[in-house]
Amino acid sequence: MIRHFLRDDDLSPEELLTVLDRADLYKRNRTGFTPLAGKAVAVVFEKNSTRTRLSFEIGIAQLGGQPVIVDGRTSQLGREETIEDTSRVLSRYVDAIAIRTFAQRRIDALASVSTVPVINALTDEFHPCQVLADLQTIRERKGALAGLTLTYLGDGNNNMAHSLMLGGTNAGMHVRVASPDGFEPLPQVAVDAKERGHLTGGSYTQIVDPQAAVDGADVLVTDSWTSMGQENDGLDRVGPFRPYQVNAALLARAEAGAIVLHCLPAHRGFEITDEVLDGAASAVWDEAENRLHAQKALLSYLLEIADLGL
Ligand code: CP
Ligand code: NVA
Repeated sequence: MIRHFLRDDDLSPEELLTVLDRADLYKRNRTGFTPLAGKAVAVVFEKNSTRTRLSFEIGIAQLGGQPVIVDGRTSQLGREETIEDTSRVLSRYVDAIAIRTFAQRRIDALASVSTVPVINALTDEFHPCQVLADLQTIRERKGALAGLTLTYLGDGNNNMAHSLMLGGTNAGMHVRVASPDGFEPLPQVAVDAKERGHLTGGSYTQIVDPQAAVDGADVLVTDSWTSMGQENDGLDRVGPFRPYQVNAALLARAEAGAIVLHCLPAHRGFEITDEVLDGAASAVWDEAENRLHAQKALLSYLLEIADLGL
């Protein structure tokens, strides 16, 4: 059975720590490890990207592998070759596939016929590679993950919110999501996050009041109020979110020494203010860098267990 990374809870709590330890090792030694020598990895984009594209392409090359970037719009995917047929073909050329696409069911369909590991490089529902980098960043700043309180503010029905719920509880963290009425996380993801929390000592709580949600928080996270693909969904994606803006007043209510994360790109003056994004609590540039190290660790781990037939 091929192991994929389609959502954060595809790694066990133990595997998550293995990957994060390896990410730290790769951060200390950018070169010198070539577990992907002789291997190729396709990285497919059906949505825009800066960080994900750069970090995968550079990371695969640093590990000795050959990255192949596939633009969904100019490949035959853009002319409606099915995702399953594309998967069957890519599986014959490459040793792993990373893909950024729309609905989670599309990556599920790709993975269902792939004979190589598939990695979620962002879907509408999840962004698990980003959360690996987030967890690496939090651990760097705070020393450990288990027992910390992380509050996500903004659109709860969002890939970052969902991945933090699963990835944070997988790491034993207490995850809170603060979002306005009508923008709550998917109910099934809330159930899954609570279950994962029971396993690790972490927890998941949904809160409407942004002030209460940040009280005692060690980490504040936000994301765009309008994700890719939602630009014309007819919803008011500014007004209801205003009270959830991560600004100096809200940050002041968090735990002393709290850090702030944002996966970027940021919409300055909307979900986060300049003073916070550019301020002392912000860890966003380390967070962006850690995409490189965390994805290298994930790729080398998945290909290692695939080679071992595990
Ligand atoms: N955070 C993130 O995934 O950035 P990109 O959209 O630039 O890849
Ligand atoms: N939630 C955002 C994340 C961008 C990296 C989006 O999906 O557009």
